[in-house]
Amino acid sequence: AQLNDLAVRAGLKYFGTALREGAINSDTAYAAILKNKSEFGQLVPENGQKWDATEASRGTFTYTQGDITANVAKSTGQGLRCHTMVWYSQLPNWVSGGSWTRAALTSVIETHMANVMGHYIGQCYAWDVANEAVADDGSWRDSIFYRTFGTDFLPISFNAAKKVDPNTKLYYNDYNLEYNGAKTNRAVELVQIVQSAGAPIDGVGFQGHLIVGSTPSRSSLATVLKRFTALGVEVAYTELDIRHSSLPASSAAQVTQGNDFANVVGSCLDVAGCVGVTVWSFTDKYSWIPETFSGQGDALIYDKNFNKKAAWTSISSVF
Ligand code: XIL
Repeated sequence: AQLNDLAVRAGLKYFGTALREGAINSDTAYAAILKNKSEFGQLVPENGQKWDATEASRGTFTYTQGDITANVAKSTGQGLRCHTMVWYSQLPNWVSGGSWTRAALTSVIETHMANVMGHYIGQCYAWDVANEAVADDGSWRDSIFYRTFGTDFLPISFNAAKKVDPNTKLYYNDYNLEYNGAKTNRAVELVQIVQSAGAPIDGVGFQGHLIVGSTPSRSSLATVLKRFTALGVEVAYTELDIRHSSLPASSAAQVTQGNDFANVVGSCLDVAGCVGVTVWSFTDKYSWIPETFSGQGDALIYDKNFNKKAAWTSISSVF
């Protein structure tokens, strides 16, 4: 059986993947696997819904890239996760380089959400409302949003998102929450800040950009997930990849990678409020890792030739 079918049978809502906009219409082998609903029950656009793709200049909205994924999901019946609204990165300079009053930047956020979330209304299982607001050392991440509002941009953003789409799940999404350190503590506080302000938050996304051999154990991961579900929000792994820190990976390292994937997926199965797992692309042919972490890679579950790796088999056997 394939991964989404197995995941659903095991009690998750979905096993999903990111869709690389530049590959889907040119690579038929890629498209065939990606569109297989038994393998991937939910899709997320890798880049197409980000601010720089949707509102590169103020007030001009473009959905060409975001619609690529939404249209595939419509035609296959796969679900859709939507990504992302308020984020310091892939943010056009007209936003990040402006000097804003709170009122003016609130209006920029509200207008962006009204248009982009409005365009996809009814289609998104969840929206990442705020992405990566915490730095790795646990301090608040510097951004135009934090500089203008302090942490008030969080409740402002979640409230604005709710007004546009009352039925999608509103998520906070970040990486390195898996290690249960200072960054995790701050993310817990973030959820509490939103809740104390009376604003809606439904979920926390663990991006899951992890490293072979340094991925926490299944039980440690379950412990971290539960710190969030204890606050009344659901959790999900939203961008899972587990990279080899040096290449080529030995066959022993491939086995370790498989065990690491099994621990991550297993931890989701162990926590009642963990709804699903999304890999950040499924094939080593298309992955942001080598572009971003020089010399590292092969972080996914199919190799560059679309053969299933040990990681695929380990995931299938943990379900
Ligand atoms: C990455 C994409 O995969 C790349 O194609 C792009 O160049 C940069 O962004 N955290 C996120 C994702 O929330 O949106 C990022 O995606 C990876 C890290």
